[in-house]
Amino acid sequence: MSKRVMIAPSILSADFSRLGEEVQAAIAGGADYIHLDVMDGHFVPNITIGALVVAAVRKISSVPLDVHLMIENPDAFLDDFIRAGADILTVHAETGYHLQRTLAAIRSKGAKAGLSLNPGTPLAVLEELWPDLDLVLLMSVNPGFGNQQFIPQVLPKLARLRRLANENAPELLIEVDGGVKAENAGEIARAGADLLVAGSAVFCSADPAREVRRLKRAANNR
Ligand code: DX5
Ligand code: ZN
Repeated sequence: MSKRVMIAPSILSADFSRLGEEVQAAIAGGADYIHLDVMDGHFVPNITIGALVVAAVRKISSVPLDVHLMIENPDAFLDDFIRAGADILTVHAETGYHLQRTLAAIRSKGAKAGLSLNPGTPLAVLEELWPDLDLVLLMSVNPGFGNQQFIPQVLPKLARLRRLANENAPELLIEVDGGVKAENAGEIARAGADLLVAGSAVFCSADPAREVRRLKRAANNR
């Protein structure tokens, strides 16, 4: 039997004036991780949160934190985010000159090492990095904003990544981020994802806990 697909609600679309309650509601619905989107206004055209907010969520979250760094020069901030409580720390392939060193540094500091690929970045970048990867995050929108449309050509890319991971890194977690809704969660899960990020689907709804349950059902109804 295949593994159960997990859900990581992204707080990007949450009401930040009630962040604690929003996180608790997502966890009550069965969230497996809380996904936190860190943006610097350089790598992506938006600025969001930093390590202070990660540390605040750490205090009230009973599930692990999945921290997605959309920032230039991530090496300078690894310590801050791991100290703040990141369990998975993901950097973007497009931001690193020394990706092997960055991934090894994340692991040596005690977090799981993730690498994210923009929709236009080929899987070839993974070829020399398999031993250093705990997770690969495929962006299914161009990063920077919540509530964008899923880019359909990511589905065949995801299926190819699943095959490559089976051969090269069977323990690898494959995460998909952007435009995930209950309507397409099943299809994305079937193509090979282990972990689905959902921001607007969860937090722009009237009942975040119910939406997490709905996403989990849709993703696991295979
Ligand atoms: C986008 C972020 C996503 C975002 C997803 O750059 O990385 O995590 O919150 O939002 P939705 O699920 O609304 O597409
Ligand atoms: Zn994200």
